[in-house]
Amino acid sequence: MEKKVILTGIRPTGNIHLGHLFGAVGNWVKLQNDYDFYLEIADVQALTDNFHNPEKVNKNVYELASDLLSIGIDPKKVHLFVQSSIPEIAELTVFYSNLVTMARLYRNPTVKTEIAQKKALFGNEGESVTYGFVGYPVSQAADITAFKGKYIPVGEDQLPLIEQCREIVRKFNSIYGDVLEEPEPLLTTTPRIKGLDGNEKMGKSLGNAIFLVDDEELVSKKIMGAVTDPQKIKKDDPANPDVCMVYYYHKLVNKENTATICQECQKGARGCVACKKELINKMNEFLKDFRLKKEYYNNNRDEVMAILKNGTEEARKAAKETITEVKKAMKINYF
Ligand code: TRP
Repeated sequence: MEKKVILTGIRPTGNIHLGHLFGAVGNWVKLQNDYDFYLEIADVQALTDNFHNPEKVNKNVYELASDLLSIGIDPKKVHLFVQSSIPEIAELTVFYSNLVTMARLYRNPTVKTEIAQKKALFGNEGESVTYGFVGYPVSQAADITAFKGKYIPVGEDQLPLIEQCREIVRKFNSIYGDVLEEPEPLLTTTPRIKGLDGNEKMGKSLGNAIFLVDDEELVSKKIMGAVTDPQKIKKDDPANPDVCMVYYYHKLVNKENTATICQECQKGARGCVACKKELINKMNEFLKDFRLKKEYYNNNRDEVMAILKNGTEEARKAAKETITEVKKAMKINYF
């Protein structure tokens, strides 16, 4: 039986951290065995927020690709590709832009939240909200439909974008004929990973993340600064592990010992410094395999770029088939 197409994307704006790994990204490694998987490095979308900083996006295309390969994304199973090298996506974006109103884009909850954040940062909306930014859901609909993506593995924050894509597909098909596939979200069920500071979300801009590329020294420094039970003053005070971020990360990378750690902490038989040191060792052990692979790729950058080039060529083939059908349906296939 032919495998169903799944597609997802990630913006190249930074390295992968534990929040990504235990959330959506780790799940992709499992999905690659069961689906025909298109994995997009969304550099054009990253530029909607970073158009003034092309070096950042360029550097992070390599960083992200080599991070993904190092966590186990297998280029034999996944078409790992770069968005900007598929011009058919840009073409579809233009065609779809007639099928969505400005009012609908402004009502999109994800866009709405992001506009509010921009306003808070820069003040006047008119000066900070570009045409490209407001239109990025249209471009994301092109990402998805170019490959006839059926299931879209995403987190909850992306649901309004998938819904917007479904509307565009229905409108397209009702006007021009049944050409496009209506996608469905494949919701990541893993909960959000909290930050070192106890924040509900781990994020680069929040400064509370452990990145997979962090070296031993940095991991150690970050864990030493992690938030513990503020009620615990002395080493042998009993404490509440449920409010402690060190315990929280023990549960992720030191599962076999969490029951003991919990009991000792509650009894006051475990000092925070020793507990942190144990976590540092476990975290470094956990990251060992990733570090070896990442080092290999850093010494063989050409191999990463060749993988990306090959994945992009495979993806482009599929996108070209779609654009041929789309142009025929829209009666703009003149020659
Ligand atoms: N918007 C997504 C994010 O910020 C990234 C993305 C780009 C994407 N294209 C996509 C996700 C297509 C799913 C499908 O995380």
